[in-house]
Amino acid sequence: MVERKAPQDAAWTAVDDYIVDRLIPNDPAFVRDANAAAGLPDIDVSPAQGKFLHLLARSVGARRILEIGTLGGYSTIWFARAVGEGGRVVSLEINPHHAAVAVSNLAAAGVGDQVSVLVGPAVETLARLDGVFDLVFIDADKPSNVAYLHEGLRLSRPGTVIVCDNVVREGDVLDTASDDPRVIGTRALFEAVAAEPRLSATAVQTVGTKKWDGFLIALVD
Ligand code: SAH
Ligand code: DHB
Ligand code: MG
Repeated sequence: MVERKAPQDAAWTAVDDYIVDRLIPNDPAFVRDANAAAGLPDIDVSPAQGKFLHLLARSVGARRILEIGTLGGYSTIWFARAVGEGGRVVSLEINPHHAAVAVSNLAAAGVGDQVSVLVGPAVETLARLDGVFDLVFIDADKPSNVAYLHEGLRLSRPGTVIVCDNVVREGDVLDTASDDPRVIGTRALFEAVAAEPRLSATAVQTVGTKKWDGFLIALVD
């Protein structure tokens, strides 16, 4: 087994700061403070990742976005800004406190009208959802990733983009012997994507303020 678990490199954070300084003047940074004040964990996507997701959504002309895992709505705000006035983001969250903080943050960001935060276990909420989404962002409990992939596919059309967060986990994705349900769920996601003929996919490793991790990106053919 290769050596894993690189220590947090100060340069990764410094480069993320440089990116934000130059390219992301409109980072909704207040969300991180509001989340911290409300006791939410600091596990939202980084500003560079949030804007990447925003640009991806705009690049495919996404008007309807499904997000699984709202937290305080940080990534949700980036998506809401991408869909514009007539677009819609549906974001699923199991924790009512997280959802309430998100609704407050979304209003403060001026995008409350574009977003529905649906509270409950996402597997149950998804079973009640229909319609077609242009982009699906999976970022909740990792053991359910395969279920979320299949629901995302059900709610997709050819051209829908499915993105899943946290698929590298500081290299833990390689650990075939792991008993961590998050690792097992992530490896199962890779297998499920590989076995799905309707998907063309890759994963991109990332470093930065979120340490060493990555996104899986799949296009529905
Ligand atoms: N996408 C957010 C971060 C989400 S963190 C951002 O980048 O800003 C993961 C969230 O998923 C947490 O708020 C957690 O409460 C929620 N979650 C965990 N299990 C869930 C489930 N079964 N159904 C819905 N949400 C769930
Ligand atoms: C965790 C979850 C995430 O979605 C993330 O981006 C980082 C950490 C976690 O559960 O620890
Ligand atoms: Mg995540």
